[in-house]
Amino acid sequence: MCGIVGYVGRAKATPILLDGLRRLEYRGYDSAGLAIVEKGRLETRKCAGRIAALEKLVRKQPVSGSLGVSHTRWATHGKVNDENAHPHFDASGKLALVHLIGKIYDDSCASTVDAPGKKARLFDAVRTALRQVIGTYGIALVHADVPDFMIGARRGSPLVLGVGNGENFLASDVSAIVAYTRDAVYLNDFDVVAAGPEKFEITSLAGDSTEHPVSKVEFTAEDIRKGDYPHYMLKEIFEQSNTVRDAMRGRLNAEECTAKLGGLNMAPPELRDVGRIVLTGCGTALHAGRVGEYLIERVANIPTEVDYASEFRHRNTPMTPETLVFAISQSGETADTLGALRESRRKGFRTLGICNNVASTIARESDGGVYMHAGPEIGVAATKSFTSQLVILALLGLLFGRMRNLSTAEGSRVIEALEALPGQIDAVLDLNDQIKAIAKRYASANGFLFFGRQFNFPIALEGALKMKEITYLFAEGHPSAELKHGVIALIRSDLPSVFIAPDDSVFSKNVNNIEQVKARKGPIIALTSGNCAKHLKGIANEIIVLPEAPDYVMPILNVVPLQLLAYHLAVELGRDVDKPRNLAKSVTVE
Ligand code: F6R
Repeated sequence: MCGIVGYVGRAKATPILLDGLRRLEYRGYDSAGLAIVEKGRLETRKCAGRIAALEKLVRKQPVSGSLGVSHTRWATHGKVNDENAHPHFDASGKLALVHLIGKIYDDSCASTVDAPGKKARLFDAVRTALRQVIGTYGIALVHADVPDFMIGARRGSPLVLGVGNGENFLASDVSAIVAYTRDAVYLNDFDVVAAGPEKFEITSLAGDSTEHPVSKVEFTAEDIRKGDYPHYMLKEIFEQSNTVRDAMRGRLNAEECTAKLGGLNMAPPELRDVGRIVLTGCGTALHAGRVGEYLIERVANIPTEVDYASEFRHRNTPMTPETLVFAISQSGETADTLGALRESRRKGFRTLGICNNVASTIARESDGGVYMHAGPEIGVAATKSFTSQLVILALLGLLFGRMRNLSTAEGSRVIEALEALPGQIDAVLDLNDQIKAIAKRYASANGFLFFGRQFNFPIALEGALKMKEITYLFAEGHPSAELKHGVIALIRSDLPSVFIAPDDSVFSKNVNNIEQVKARKGPIIALTSGNCAKHLKGIANEIIVLPEAPDYVMPILNVVPLQLLAYHLAVELGRDVDKPRNLAKSVTVE
C-alpha cells in the first residue's frame, strides 16, 4: 500500500528508483512518480497507472542525477490522476514531498547559509514539521538546494534504510533494494534519518541521536524472482511443501512429543497458566486464526476465540488475566492488526506475533512470537503464508496440549501428521492438471459457493476469498449446514458449489448437504480424501481426491487445490493474477 524508494550515491538514480518501484508493485498502487535532483533543479515525472507508464514517460523525457525519490500511490482520498500522483512539491518547487516542511525550511534559510548549514536546517525543518503532524506517515524527501542528501521518517508506515558502499537507499520494504544491498537498518516510529552517500544519521523527532543495528536481510534478490513461473502466486503455491517444512524446522521435539517455540519468551509455568487464547488478524490471516480456534481447543483444550483485528481493537472484549493474545500477520505491518496488538498490550495482556516479515513492526512490538520463515510472499493473494500460519498454530496446539491433557502417544501422532505434510502437499500439487481442467470447464460460471464444516469451514472462507480476490467473481464461504438457512436460495446451474468434504467425523453430514445442492441442479466440485471418494461418485460433478490426514492438519492440504482453482480460473479469465485490481498486499491504512 503506497511504496517509496530513495537513492543517494554515485550511480544514476532513475533506474534504481524505477526498479525499486517495480519490486514494490505487489503492495498495490494506482499511480507512480519520481523526483530527481538534476544540476541543482528538481525534475519530476509522474502519472496515473502502472510503473510501465512511468517508464514510458521517463524514456520520452529522460532525467538523470544521483539523488532522488520515487513513489507509488494507492488512493485513499482523492482521484487517481496524474496530478494526485506522488511525489508532491513545496511552494518553491524545490522540495519533493511535503509543503509544511518547505515552509519551515524556507523561513529558516532566509539568511544565506552554506551547504552543511542547509543540510542541518533541512533535517531540522523535517523534524519540526513532523512534530506537528497528526496520523501516520512514511516519507522520503530530497531538496534541490541540498545535493547528496535525502531524509526519511516514519510513523506507522514501514521504512528501511539500505546501507550500501558509497550509496544509501530508503524503501518501504527491503525487497525494493535487496538487489543492491543486504545491509539494512529498520527504522522505528518517530525516527528521522538523514543519509548522504557515505554516512547516515538517525535521530528522534526531538533531534536526539539514536543507535540502530545494521541487520543482514534474510533473503536475496534471487528469492524474489519469479523464475520459470508465469506468476508469483503459482510459484508461491508450489513452494508450500518447502515453506511448511521450514515453518516446523527445529521446532519438533520427538523425544518429548512436543513443540519447541523459544520465541514465545514464556517459561513453562507461564505456558501452563494460559487460560484463554485470542487470535486476531485480517483477511487470510484471520482465516488461519479460525482454523487455530478449532485446533487449539481440540488439541490443547484451551478456550480460544478469534476476532477481526479491526473489531477487536475498538471493542471492549472482556478479558481475563490469563488471556494470551496472538496477532497473526504475514507482513507484520497491517494497520488494524498492529492496532489490535497495541490495544492488547496497552491493557497489559501478553501479546505475541505470528509473522513472516522478521523486521516488521508487529514482530518488533510484540512480547515474543513465532516466525513463519516462508520467504518473501510477493503475490498479492496470500498462499504460502496461510499454510505456514496453520503449521504454527498446530505447533502451538501441540505445545499447549502437552502442557495439559495431551498424552505422549497423542503428541507423537501430531508430530507424525506434521512431518507427513510436505510429502502430502507435493501429492496435492500433482493434481494441478486436474484442477486446471476443472477451472477451464467452469470458466463461465457466474460465481462460486464454498462449503465446509468444522476445521474446514474456515477453508471454505479462504477458498472464497482467493476466488474473489483474483477472479473478481462473486464467491462466498459458509458452514455446510447453513445452506438450508438461506444460501440454498442461490443455488442454480451456473453457480458451482465447492464442498470440502474429507474423510472425517462430519463426512456423512457433508454428503447430505451435497445432495441438497444436487437436487436443485447446482454443479458440485468436491474435495475429499481416502475412501470417501467412492461415496461421492454419481453425486459430485468433479471429485478431487487428497491424501488422508487427521482432521486438524487436513485444512493445510485442503486449501492448496482451492488456491490452484482460483489461480487457474483467474488466468483463464485473463486477470492480472499478481496485481489484482484495487488490492494492496500490505494494508497499512485503516
Ligand atoms: C488475502 C490477503 C489479505 C491479507 C490481509 C492480512 O489473500 O492477502 O486478506 O491476508 O490483508 O495481511 P497480513 O497477513 O499481512 O496482515
